[in-house]
Parts: sequence; structure tokens; C-alpha cells
Amino acid sequence: MGETFIPLADLRYAADVPRIPETALPPGGLLADRLGRPLRDLRISVTDRCNFRCSYCMPKEVFDKAYRFLPHSSLLSFEEITRAARLFVAHGVSKLRLTGGEPLLRKNLELLIEQLAALRTPEGEALDITLTTNGSLLERKAEALRAAGLRRVTVSLDALDDTVFRRMNDVDFPVADVLRGIDAALRVGLAPIKINMVVKRGTNDHEIVPLARHVRDAYGPGVILRFIEYMDVGATNGWCMDEVLPSAAVVQRLTEVFPLQPLQPNASGETAARWRYLDGGGEIGVISSVTQAFCRDCNRARLSTEGKLFLCLFASRGHDLRTLLRGAYSDEQIAAAIGLIWGEREDRYSELRGAGAAAAGSGERRVEMHYIGG
Ligand code: GTP
Ligand code: 5AD
Ligand code: SF4
Ligand code: SF4
Repeated sequence: MGETFIPLADLRYAADVPRIPETALPPGGLLADRLGRPLRDLRISVTDRCNFRCSYCMPKEVFDKAYRFLPHSSLLSFEEITRAARLFVAHGVSKLRLTGGEPLLRKNLELLIEQLAALRTPEGEALDITLTTNGSLLERKAEALRAAGLRRVTVSLDALDDTVFRRMNDVDFPVADVLRGIDAALRVGLAPIKINMVVKRGTNDHEIVPLARHVRDAYGPGVILRFIEYMDVGATNGWCMDEVLPSAAVVQRLTEVFPLQPLQPNASGETAARWRYLDGGGEIGVISSVTQAFCRDCNRARLSTEGKLFLCLFASRGHDLRTLLRGAYSDEQIAAAIGLIWGEREDRYSELRGAGAAAAGSGERRVEMHYIGG
């Protein structure tokens, strides 16, 4: 049998490697990157648009009326996303997270979820399918999402106090609407629900204890609150270390009111370190990308809204899978390309940044989080 090639210079940005041998790495669930990390988690951004303007993600001054979001023709279709997801699953992915921008702004998202929910791992298992939302449309959509096969949701919520919340989302969106969205998700059984709070020192850190108290009182152990260190992702949020409240300080503040004890991770590669309330009130998580990088076990790939494959949240460039999906390539060829790309991965931005800023990143402008997906 003659050797076949995928002749695509643009798939990989290294122009001097224009051809990918099809036989490079067949799907089989045994992929490992250069640091020995498997591929388990695919995060799919379904839109680069959002109805919020959180200053740490889409500051109003940059993402204003003149900002050009992607045209519809650039977006991967649901069929293209599902095909790509199927090929990733063949390589060992067992968790899919839909992100954005705000994923619930993508029209008919339930139809995509239905298609994704029909996928099976090589062992015949259903996938862990979840979604990260700002909660603004959740009350309206929770039931349809659940019916389509969504298992659970993560809701971003940066404050309980309405004034602080409106300031964080910067579009004057009321917190009560998000809380009703969480109630609706609970009602239809999208469980466990996780709530993510990005902590910015001096802006919303005084909301840590009130939010924790509310989650314990209103929902109990069924809802897991997680605190995220404000990250230097993208190039527009004006990040500075002074505004980062280290997770150790978050735990310290909480434990003074609600004593905590550390828990073992559920699985390798988890973003959050887990803690449990000693009184049985459930658990919380802290995501310490800045002060305690978790690159060592990072098993996450990200598919951008327009079909670029990013291997790190802090990458500057992605591999153009859309060209493959829209070209005359077989599943086997595309799977081989994915295998090859993952096999060469050596990203570990947060670890390098922790070791000294000069070592981290390529110096190119980093991709924005609303485009690549959280
Ligand atoms: P669960 O399965 O629900 O625990 O998902 P997850 O831990 O992947 O959590 P989620 O998608 O909610 O991610 C939470 C936040 O962690 C994101 O919004 C990011 O801020 C951050 N995060 C997620 N993945 C990465 C990563 O690979 N690197 C870094 N530096 N931060 C990440
Ligand atoms: N730092 C930390 N988390 C961020 N997110 C977006 N921008 C940042 C940032 N600069 C995450 C939050 C939000 C999700 C959609 O993306 O977790 O909930
Ligand atoms: Fe929108 Fe989420 Fe970014 Fe806020 S963090 S602007 S809700 S995508
Ligand atoms: Fe993974 Fe990059 Fe995040 Fe490290 S910084 S955990 S390699 S996405």
C-alpha cells in the first residue's frame, strides 16, 4: 500500500512541514503529548459573542459596537463540530464542554447537544457533556438543554450583591435573573451544578464569604462553588498581579467562618483543588492557575468558534481543523492529523509563567478567552 499524505500547510503553522503522514498516529485512545499527557477533555467554543462585558474577559472599551465578531460563515456548523468531536472521542476524549462567549446565544444549541449526546466512547460509554454559561438565558433554556442530553452546567457568578454583580458584568445585568437560572437548572436535574467566581482583589473579593454562605444555605451540597484566580489570559484585560487574590487567601478567609478540610482530587488533570466543609455543608473548589499551576496533568484541548484547535489557553495560534473538515479528507486522515498535533504538544504556559515571566509564551499576542472558550 502506497503512503498517503494530508497535504496541508495551513493545518500546522510551521510552513516547513507541509505534509502529515496519514499513518502517523491512528486513533486508539492511547495518545500522549511530549510531556506524557493524554487527551481527555475537549472544550468547544460555539460563539465568540457574549451579552456580558466582564472586565477580565471582554472589556467594554475593546469589545464595543465597532468590534467585529466572526461572521456566521466562519463558524463551525453543528455537523462539523459533531464530526470533529467524534474524532476526538476516538482518541480518548470523554468529556465535552461547550463554551463561548456565551454558548446559549448560539441559535438552536439543543440540536448540537442532541448530536453530541449520541456519541459513544470506544468502550461504548456516553460522554460527560457540560456547558459553561453566564446564566442569563438559563431560566428560559434549562429544560430544553436537559431534554437534549446535557448532563450538567457550570454557571459563572462573580457576586451575590446586585450592585457588585452589575459592575462585574458591566452591562447592568441583575443577579436575580442568574439566580433564577440556577434554580431552573436545579429543577430540571442538571446536576451537579458548579458555580464559578472569578476573584479580583479589591473588586469582588468581599463577596467570597457571602456567596459561599448563600450557596450553602440556598442549595446545600448539590451545588459546588469554585473560586478562580484572576488570570492573565488574552491581551485586553490589563491584568496585573496586584488584582490576584491567591487561592490560599480565599481558603483562609472561608475557613475562618466555615472550617474546611482538603479533599483528594476526583480525577487526574482537574483544574480545581477540592475542599469540604467540616460541618457537612458540601464542598468548594479553588482554581489556582496563577499561584499553583496545574499544567502537569493538563489533558484539555480547545476548539475555537471557527474551528481552530488550540492546545493551551494561553496559546497565540491554533491549528486550522476547519480547512480539513471542509476539505476532501476522510475521518481517518483528520484523526491522524489530530493525533500528530497532540503528539507534538509541549505547552505548559502557567508553569513557565510561575517560574519567571520571561520564559512563558511565544511573545506573540495571546488569543482571547471569549474566542477560544474557557
Ligand atoms: P469540571 O469537570 O466541571 O470540574 O470542569 P473544569 O474543572 O474543567 O472547570 P471549568 O470548565 O469550569 O473551568 C473553570 C475555569 O478554570 C475556567 O473558566 C478557566 O478560568 C480555568 N481553566 C480551565 N481550564 C484551564 C486550563 O487548562 N488552564 C488554565 N490556566 N485555566 C483553566
Ligand atoms: N481569569 C480567570 N477566569 C476567567 N474567565 C474568563 N476570563 C478569565 C480571567 N481573566 C473564565 C471564568 C468565566 C469563564 C467563562 O471564563 O471562569 O466564568
Ligand atoms: Fe461573557 Fe463569560 Fe467572558 Fe463574562 S466571562 S464576558 S460572561 S464570556
Ligand atoms: Fe493546560 Fe495551558 Fe492551562 Fe497549563 S496553562 S493547564 S498547559 S491550558
